[in-house]
Amino acid sequence: MNAAVRPAWSPDLEERYADVMERAGSGVPCLEWPFHLPWIDAIAKLKRERGAVIMAHSYQSPEIFHGVADITGDSLALAQAAATVDSDVVVMCGVHFMAETAKILAPQRTVLIPDPEAGCSLASSITAEDVRALRARHPGAPVVTYVNTSAAVKAESDACCTSANALQVVESMGADKVIFLPDQFLGRHVASMTSVQLVLWEGRCEVHERFTAQQARHARARFDARVIAHPECPPEVLEEADFVGSTTAMGRWLERERPARVALITECSMGDNLRTRFPDIEFVKPCNLCPHMKRITLPGIFDCLRDLRHRVEIDAETSHRARAALERMLAVGRRERV
Ligand code: 13P
Ligand code: SF4
Repeated sequence: MNAAVRPAWSPDLEERYADVMERAGSGVPCLEWPFHLPWIDAIAKLKRERGAVIMAHSYQSPEIFHGVADITGDSLALAQAAATVDSDVVVMCGVHFMAETAKILAPQRTVLIPDPEAGCSLASSITAEDVRALRARHPGAPVVTYVNTSAAVKAESDACCTSANALQVVESMGADKVIFLPDQFLGRHVASMTSVQLVLWEGRCEVHERFTAQQARHARARFDARVIAHPECPPEVLEEADFVGSTTAMGRWLERERPARVALITECSMGDNLRTRFPDIEFVKPCNLCPHMKRITLPGIFDCLRDLRHRVEIDAETSHRARAALERMLAVGRRERV
């Protein structure tokens, strides 16, 4: 099938994929299903032929998250899944650092990313050379690196972390001073909870840095909403939040608290994907779109599976060193308090 040729619509698709449509609920406008369902069906067939598994981050659009993904979750969940995956082919619906992480943890698998240009402002904020310079300025201080970094930066690090275990990974280093990079807002959040001195970098998430404390206050005052925020938000936003946590922890917090209304201060698709799990909760915007996450589309997933293209390759030396840092993160595991 040529990349420009769309798989055909047939009336039985709605019946065959009724479960997908139900799971996605109002996250996908009903007018869009005639476009999505032929791709979802074509991807399902290819997935079987290729012996592939599709992983999708919580920020993927609902037609991907509910329509084609076998494994969904936050960065930590996807890394944990990659470490134990037994399919020949892994398609990572997320950004490039997530696909690299999967390849490092599953080096014997073919790991594909539908769009290799799906980057991340945090990952591009720092290089391996920057890490070496930081180490030289702070001799003896271990380096803890957020997974939102390149494989080369991970290879220069002692341990990786995600938003689900950043505090615990920092404390597991057993040091008075730790170099924590590259997200300065996550770093400040961790610093507020530990006596370990953190040396921070200037990196920011271009999506979460745009949120303001005023938006959080408005959601609470105008809609009587509880406010939950991702730790990549600026500190003044986190101060307004009832709960701060990873994308997985946000879902768990909603399960426990069941508020009437909630403002999820994070990427837009997060709320869309959670909405059907919590039909009694009203989701109040604000949200911002991650332009990198949104580069992943159903036609892109189809093309990459059909052609087995956009393979993630990492040189053996970098992969070996980065894996050691990722394994320390996996050993700490999920440690968020919800
Ligand atoms: P999580 O680790 O919470 O999935 O967040 C990853 C991310 O990129 C947030 O912007
Ligand atoms: Fe990177 Fe921010 Fe997009 Fe997450 S939301 S992938 S941190 S740019």
